Parts: sequence; structure tokens; C-alpha cells
Amino acid sequence: MKRFKKIVTIFLIVLVVLGISGYVYFNRQFPKVEAVEDIKIEITPARLERGKYIFNHSAACVDCHSTRDFSKLSGPVKPGTEGMGGEKFDEEIGMPGTFYSRNITPYGIGNWTDGEVLRAITEGISKDGSALFPLMPYLVYGKMDKEDIYSVIAYIRTLPSIKNDVPRSEPKFPVSMLMKTMPTKKQFSVKPDISNSVAYGEYMVKGASCTDCHTPSDGGEPIPGKYLSGGIEIKLPGNTVVRTGNLTPDNETGLGLWTKEQFIKKFKDCSRPEFGNTPYRQGEFQTVMPWTVYAGLTEEDLGAIYDYLRTIPAVKNRVEKFGQKLY
Ligand code: HEC
Ligand code: HEC
Repeated sequence: MKRFKKIVTIFLIVLVVLGISGYVYFNRQFPKVEAVEDIKIEITPARLERGKYIFNHSAACVDCHSTRDFSKLSGPVKPGTEGMGGEKFDEEIGMPGTFYSRNITPYGIGNWTDGEVLRAITEGISKDGSALFPLMPYLVYGKMDKEDIYSVIAYIRTLPSIKNDVPRSEPKFPVSMLMKTMPTKKQFSVKPDISNSVAYGEYMVKGASCTDCHTPSDGGEPIPGKYLSGGIEIKLPGNTVVRTGNLTPDNETGLGLWTKEQFIKKFKDCSRPEFGNTPYRQGEFQTVMPWTVYAGLTEEDLGAIYDYLRTIPAVKNRVEKFGQKLY
């Protein structure tokens, strides 16, 4: 009996040691930190103009890295908060923990090298070598056109510095471990020419993270056969919910019957100051779709997005976009 106890004790000790060394090994291995590139991104007027457009409209960095004012319809960005971070994404909206977007004005990342900023945006690794949660769409940005990424970096260097200290994100176990395995080496692509409207539109849709809100997913993985078919439910104050629209070309439940003109107008109408200033009254329609941000997309870019959305498989999924719901 004594002998048996001894064997069990040794076995347990071995297990604990293996566990600890496994943990240490894991943390040494991940994230696989790529060396920081020794680059200097030249700030040119062309890059600033393109970067401003990407930041404020086409990649909607501003949507997550500023304060949204949900006392107004569709939560427009509060002027003067651009890039200061601190927006909270937590379990209320289905996140595996509590995450805060970070301060990307010079106050937050002013002392980072261009290589460090590039690595964070395209490979998901912060200056201190820690992994970022992929809610920050680095997996998408790592596949964009190099010039687009360089432009957005040039632009964020010129944002007014805003003093705002952001709390650390707190992912829950096991996501806290899993997210360390996700950073991957960037693989830039070449932006398709706008004359190839469908391919160009696909590049836009990916870069704008439309899929994050419009494609149903399970445990972070998109559900096959449901691409952009909507129906994701987001809780709003006062026991109301908003559900994302079906963007597939299904005639009855999607955008099948929308003309290109209607599609473009739907976005452009949201750039009218009246739209962004409509006060939100609890119980009435409210949405998280960043209409005022995307309203600044050019008609050509919106047209290409439309052309691409015509080519994806039609999915029947009737969505009641707004309603009451008791949890
Ligand atoms: C869907 C929301 C979202 C969008 C869109 C987004 N970000 Fe982020 N970003 C985040 C979150 C959240 C974090 C912090 C993640 C964490 O704490 O693990 C972050 C982190 C970062 C960091 C790392 C900062 C640091 O201190 O480690 C940089 C740089 C950054 N984002 C830049 C950008 C740029 C540039 C864009 C647009 C091209 C962009 N982000 C678009 C949500 C977003
Ligand atoms: C932060 C989440 C979010 C993102 C990102 C997002 N949407 Fe939406 N979208 C919504 C929600 C919620 C609705 C439903 C409520 C509404 O109409 O505002 C919606 C509605 C729409 C509608 C109206 C559909 C209808 O049937 O009336 C269109 C069109 C649309 N989105 C296109 C897009 C495109 C294109 C992108 C990317 C450029 C995008 N969305 C990105 C949340 C999002």
C-alpha cells in the first residue's frame, strides 16, 4: 500500500512538472514573434490622402478605435475621439472576455517604430511581443495591398495625440492561450484594378470587415453556406435587439431586388448631417451598422461592393432587423 502511494505521488509530481514545462514551452513558442522590419514609411501627400480614406471609411479603423455616440441613431463617431481607443467589446456582445481597442494616436504608439506598427496591424503582435485578439482584423490586413497599409500607417502618425490610457484586454481561458497561436506572417496581395469591379469589390468587402457582422459564425469560425447571410443578433438597451441584414442576392430575403442606385443611395443618404444627428430614443430602431463611417465611401467603391455582392451565393434567410427580446 505504501509502495502504491509512493508510485501515485511520483506520478502526480511528474504530471505537474510536465504540465508546468508544457505551459512554459507553449508560452516560449507562441506567439511566434516575427522580427520587426527595419523600415521607414515615408509620409507623402498621396499616402496621407489614401490613409485618411482607409482609416475613416474603407477599413473603418475609426469605428473601433474611437468613441461611438449611441445617444444618436447608428452611433456615429464622437468628434475629437478619433484613434484614442478604449471602446469595450465584452461578453454582452458575445466576446470570450473583455477587450478594449487601443490608443493608436501618438500618445499610444508615438514611440513605436514603423516596423512595430506594421507588425501589429498585419501580424497581430504588439510592441511588447504579446498577441492581439483577432477582433482587431490583423488577419485581414496582412493580406491587403502593401501600399494601402503603408498609407494608413503614414496617416495615423499624423492623428492629433489624445491622452487616454486604455485598460488591458482580459481574454478568458482557453482563448487567452489559443489567441497566442494565431499571429501569422503577413502575405500582402495586389489590389485589383477598379475596372475589374467584382475582384475590386471583394477586396473592399474583406478590408471593411463586413463579414465580421454579416456572416454567422460558430466559435469564431464562419458557418459554411451562410456567407454574408446576416441574422446575427446584437443586444441593445431596453430589451431590444438589432439583427444584421442578409447581403446575399436572394430575391425574397436578401438584396436580390436592390438596384445598384438604391444600394449606393442607402449609404450616401447616411452622410446627411440630419442622419448622424438623429437622437436615439430607447425602444425605437437603433443599429450598430456604422452607416456614417461607410457613407464616406466613394460611389465607385460602393458600386464595386454591390457588383461583388451580386456574385456570392444567394442564401434564404429572412431577418427581422429590429425587435423586442427578453433575456
Ligand atoms: C473591429 C474592431 C477593430 C477595427 C476595425 C480595427 N481595430 Fe485595431 N484593435 C482593435 C482591438 C480590440 C485591439 C486590441 C486587441 C487586444 O487587446 O488584444 C486593436 C489593436 C490595434 C493595434 C495595437 C496597439 C497596441 O497597443 O498593441 C493597432 C496598431 C491597431 N489596432 C491599429 C488599427 C488600424 C490601423 C486599423 C484600421 C486599418 C484598425 N486597428 C482596425 C479593434 C479594431
Ligand atoms: C458592426 C457591425 C456591422 C458591420 C461591420 C457592417 N454591418 Fe451592415 N448591418 C449591420 C446591422 C446590425 C444591420 C441591420 C440594421 C440596419 O439596417 O442598420 C446592417 C444592415 C446592412 C444593410 C441593410 C440591409 C437591409 O436589408 O436593409 C446593408 C446593405 C449592409 N448592412 C451592408 C454592409 C456592408 C457592405 C458592410 C461592409 C462595408 C457592412 N454592412 C458592415 C451591422 C454591420
